[in-house]
Amino acid sequence: MNHFIITGFAGFIGSHTTELLLSKGHKITGIDNFDPFYSREIKEKNISSFVNHKNFSLLELDITDKSIYKHFPQGIDCIIHLAAKAGVRPSIEDPRSYVKTNITGTQNILEWASENNVKKMIFASSSSVYGNNEKLPFSEDDDVNNPISPYAFTKRSCELLNYLWHKLHGIDIINLRFFTVYGPKQRPDLAIRKFAELIKVGKPIQIFGDGKSARDYTYIDDILQGILASIEYIRMNNGVFEIINLGNSNPVQLQELIDLIYKLSGKPKNVVQSEMQPGDVDYTCADIRKAQRLLNFEPKTNFQEGLGKFLQWLDKN
Ligand SMILES: NC(=O)c1ccc[n+]([C@@H]2O[C@H](COP(=O)([O-])OP(=O)(O)OC[C@H]3O[C@@H](n4cnc5c(N)ncnc54)[C@H](O)[C@@H]3O)[C@@H](O)[C@H]2O)c1
Repeated sequence: MNHFIITGFAGFIGSHTTELLLSKGHKITGIDNFDPFYSREIKEKNISSFVNHKNFSLLELDITDKSIYKHFPQGIDCIIHLAAKAGVRPSIEDPRSYVKTNITGTQNILEWASENNVKKMIFASSSSVYGNNEKLPFSEDDDVNNPISPYAFTKRSCELLNYLWHKLHGIDIINLRFFTVYGPKQRPDLAIRKFAELIKVGKPIQIFGDGKSARDYTYIDDILQGILASIEYIRMNNGVFEIINLGNSNPVQLQELIDLIYKLSGKPKNVVQSEMQPGDVDYTCADIRKAQRLLNFEPKTNFQEGLGKFLQWLDKN
């Protein structure tokens, strides 16, 4: 049994990760401030299956507040740092809070780790660091110095901060660049869930752009396999600093996504088209050869199947 700290455990990816690691017999200390970016009620539902588990402890704390670190437990084997302000468009409205939570929060976690002899960390980075990269698919060696949103800037900054802490303090770190993750418990601000909820109740959906933008949607179970494999990789190796894409490598156009949701929901189409939004990238597609090589990562859920599972979950919830 290992003892993990999972920051952002009450969110979409964090609650799935916590549940999975508990099911494998690990001990988890979950840290989350139930940030009001979306409702506490949704987050409480996310964690209801494990919040009373004997191997789980909850710390409701804000990672930007350095004074909270005295509450952290000792004997941690690995930190899975997922807590962040995660929306792209809202980051343009409020860049300061993104810098505070994502960069200062990460700095605090790294300082605590180095002061408390924690030597392993998995960090949630994002495909958004690639901006409007012209080379496809996006590979870890591509230039990532052209962010087009404050959110992307903070994620790239954290990768660099992590590198510094790895070099100065010998913390092994894997930065996972997640490509648009979807599935049960998906964040309510993300397109698939937003569209599906509106379509379900017969309301119009608003799309930005001509429908040709595309995302490399990656099903949550595949992301979880990548996280598990990263934990194993970092456990077995020392001196690790890696940046690894976790994507499906099979982009889906916005138009195709909408057509499929309408088809699976059996509702008539009702779409309002608006201009592309600043901060939104045109296209994402992961080169996953590094994940295949280091982690044996192989996404197994095709988009239609994953969307079907998500819609079934939404119906029940
Ligand atoms: N979902 C995706 O498609 C996606 C893609 C790329 C990267 N990511 C990254 O993965 C991570 C998890 O994303 P998610 O979709 O589960 O988001 P989420 O918003 O559901 O989860 C993030 C959690 O962090 C918590 N949090 C926010 N600020 C905090 C603070 N100051 N102190 C403590 N906790 C705080 C929130 O309350 C929330 O529960 C994030 O770092 C996100 O940037 C997600």
